[in-house]
Amino acid sequence: MSKVKKAIIPAAGLGTRFLPATKTVPKEMLTIVDAPIIFYVVEEAIQAGIEDIVLIQGRGKTAIEDFFDTSYELEDKLGKDGKTHLLERLVKIREMANIISVRQKQPLGLGHAVLCGQKVVGHEPFAVLLGDEIMVQKQAEANTIGRLKSIFEDTKSSTVAVMEVAPSEVSKYGIADVEKEARGYFRVKGFVEKPKPEAAPSRWALPGRYVFGPEIFDELQNAKPGVLGEIQLTDSMNSLAKKSPVFASQFSSDRFDAGDKLGYLKANIELGLDHPEIGADLKKYLLQELMPHLQKGTSR
Ligand code: UTP
Repeated sequence: MSKVKKAIIPAAGLGTRFLPATKTVPKEMLTIVDAPIIFYVVEEAIQAGIEDIVLIQGRGKTAIEDFFDTSYELEDKLGKDGKTHLLERLVKIREMANIISVRQKQPLGLGHAVLCGQKVVGHEPFAVLLGDEIMVQKQAEANTIGRLKSIFEDTKSSTVAVMEVAPSEVSKYGIADVEKEARGYFRVKGFVEKPKPEAAPSRWALPGRYVFGPEIFDELQNAKPGVLGEIQLTDSMNSLAKKSPVFASQFSSDRFDAGDKLGYLKANIELGLDHPEIGADLKKYLLQELMPHLQKGTSR
């Protein structure tokens, strides 16, 4: 079977970069304009033709599951108040995806989170979308996970998204060691997790979108945990790439690391500018009220 119909979305991390907010609110539920980060991630998967979402959740993360569920009282009240536009939006969200929740009992790393989805995925290929990375496709072409999915469906080989980063940035990412590009994507020789700039095999970084064949689960099961007991997905991808073809593709979507404070604010500004209700006013505020002060170095 080579059609990719399932996606694992790991969302069980502790979100320490966002403390204290994430003490009680899951990072994936922080809002970008008027919807939580996880909404944009699930939307990308659904737009690419994914049917089942396997959500990896940790303690205190049930708000994510509730977001995609029915809220009877709220829907009833919106209906009675004639707020049909809002009601329709809520109904659309709860109908958009078939969500299957799996608990990761301890945050033992991204590799472990993916492994938690194995029972639901079974022997099928599947996508992985990090629950705190947002990809917005503005061009009239497949979105990032859709592009990986079609390369997988053509080649039957695991395929990951890559983006070129500055040398000073390589130590923040998993990095792919790639061979020359052919057919619009690279063959990957191996992967390294967060290398020092001088040891990095390239500047092709992994932004958190993957499509795997089920054989990645064998690698994850055999993976040795690191010092903190964490299982890194990158290590298992590296051992997979040594045994069978793995491809890497660039993408044309705008990407925001919404799990990081600066990336989160950038996402809010850029998606706010595109928002039909507030876009024009936000632009006016930025250009007319804020910019002059920033340019002059004065405070408002
Ligand atoms: P991150 O490393 O960005 O998440 O993992 P984190 O650990 O929550 O972040 P900080 O550094 O403490 O702020 C990327 C994605 O993988 C999930 C996270 O929820 C996030 O969406 N993840 C990470 C898991 O589901 N389980 C884990 O054990 C680790």
